[in-house]
Amino acid sequence: MKAIEIRNKYLNFFKNHGHAIIPSAPVIPENDPSVLFTTAGMQPLVPYLLGQKHPSGTRLTDYQKCVRTVDIDEVGDNRHLTYFEMLGNWSLGDYFKEESIAMSYEFLTKELGIPAEKLSVTCFAGDDDCSKDEVAYSAWRKAGIPDERIYFFGKDDNWWIAGEEGPCGPDTEMFYDTGKPKCSPECNPSCDCGKYVEIWNNVFMEFYKDKNGYSKLSQQNVDTGLGLERMTMLLQGKETPFEIELFSPVMEKLVELEKVDNIESRRIVAEHLRSSMMIINDGGRPSNVDRGYILRRLLRRMTRHLNKLEVDLNRLDEVIDVSIDALKELYPELLQNRDIIKNVIIEEKDKFMKTLQNGEREFEKVANRTKNSGKKVLETEAVFNLYETYGFPPEMTEELAKEAGLEVDMSDYQKLFKEHQEKSRLGSEQKFKGGLASTGEIETKYHTATHLLNAALKVVLGDHVHQKGSNITAERMRFDFSHGAKMTDEEKQKVEDLVNKYIADDIKVEKMEMKKEEALAMGAEAMFLDKYGDVVTVYKIGDVSLELCGGPHVESTGKLGHFKIKKEEASSSGVRRIKAILE
Ligand code: ALA
Repeated sequence: MKAIEIRNKYLNFFKNHGHAIIPSAPVIPENDPSVLFTTAGMQPLVPYLLGQKHPSGTRLTDYQKCVRTVDIDEVGDNRHLTYFEMLGNWSLGDYFKEESIAMSYEFLTKELGIPAEKLSVTCFAGDDDCSKDEVAYSAWRKAGIPDERIYFFGKDDNWWIAGEEGPCGPDTEMFYDTGKPKCSPECNPSCDCGKYVEIWNNVFMEFYKDKNGYSKLSQQNVDTGLGLERMTMLLQGKETPFEIELFSPVMEKLVELEKVDNIESRRIVAEHLRSSMMIINDGGRPSNVDRGYILRRLLRRMTRHLNKLEVDLNRLDEVIDVSIDALKELYPELLQNRDIIKNVIIEEKDKFMKTLQNGEREFEKVANRTKNSGKKVLETEAVFNLYETYGFPPEMTEELAKEAGLEVDMSDYQKLFKEHQEKSRLGSEQKFKGGLASTGEIETKYHTATHLLNAALKVVLGDHVHQKGSNITAERMRFDFSHGAKMTDEEKQKVEDLVNKYIADDIKVEKMEMKKEEALAMGAEAMFLDKYGDVVTVYKIGDVSLELCGGPHVESTGKLGHFKIKKEEASSSGVRRIKAILE
């Protein structure tokens, strides 16, 4: 059975049992900045589980697009996924345990045709907060599961809550017996040797947990979740989700394109590509914070593994096409968004490729140095430098280190991060003062040009670009910035053209005063943050640039004349220097 058929059977089954089919919410939660991604079907339904009336009634069913990122680094093995689809049905104060269990049993055995003897179930064993779930037990017995395949476990296994606070309750979980031998005489569904695979979780949500403990909700709810990829895999008799039709064409395409055979890398590429596509499809874009950072990590890890497979990266768009094709029945919206999905992925790939090879070389160097000095742990400083200069997310360096038989020391990473910020701030202040020693008309123009150049470099080279210093005379400007590779002629031309476009657009330069926190929240470049106390001056150049700066600046960019890059060279390790003039 294909995934789409399982989904359709599920929704129709629950529709026939009085449930309204509701649409999937986006993987990026609407109006909820507290969570990065939608991780379960119940998440968009929380207000209704707490008692608010749902416009579609008290029985709901849907498929929900989910992203769970805690296990990103596990992807590559035979089961972990960061994106998955959860099929679910809900009772909002309507039916409870018995009916829920009866429906689940009927769906699994009649609709999907799973032999009853393949099923084992677990129920809540009871503790001080909630008694043993005898009702669930009886319901399973009544459905036809014999005593020896009903297990009882405590909160670790049979209690479900999203995070630390919220609606929750005991659950009953259904397991599929793969037929593999028991790993030990005690082997049971709570064991993850692979004999038993969890297929469905029915949560009986009648509690609410907060800092003070558990209290009863005003209604008894049911919240269930069934992982589509896993069910498809089991029904097709496959060992991994990468063998089902949602992934297998991509895996085959990679085999066709790769020069090096590595199944883990292939899985990472196929999985991270799908996850990234779904996030971009719902509006996500790579950045250095929160959701955008997760997307960036996924795309950079994908790029590194494509590179490891020695796939011609100019053919990535073919891989994207194959993946969209494999998913289009489930998510037709991918077809409409094909171009934007491709653009975002390929742009991020291109940006990262500029520094990936040099970064890998740098990694080799520090890894060898570490080994040669008899150590097994890579210093935080090196991990930080790889991020700052080459855009390597620390998790990626950790992965590289693991492959090289090393560990990484992350204990001081945050501290180092802050120290470096402070150093660059102090350094910049010195230069800033020097740079402003004389601010005639021409120097003022150059001053504005540095903001435009900083912005253009970010667009062309990536968000890892930060100003490391500048020096202005009446004849020229000098601008230092973080970037790990020599710029190509094409890149220089693009930057130059972009700055000249900003000039031609004659964009207004606005001076604004605001609270430090506000400026930070707006994403302003914050080099001189502490210098101005609580209220800071921010210069905004249209949508192009937002920087904390003392000025002075021209009133609009049209006054600058023609911008020309005269030279691009190394300044210090990981820092490049551009000399440019206004003609
Ligand atoms: N909300 C439950 C889960 O995610 C069904 O497993």
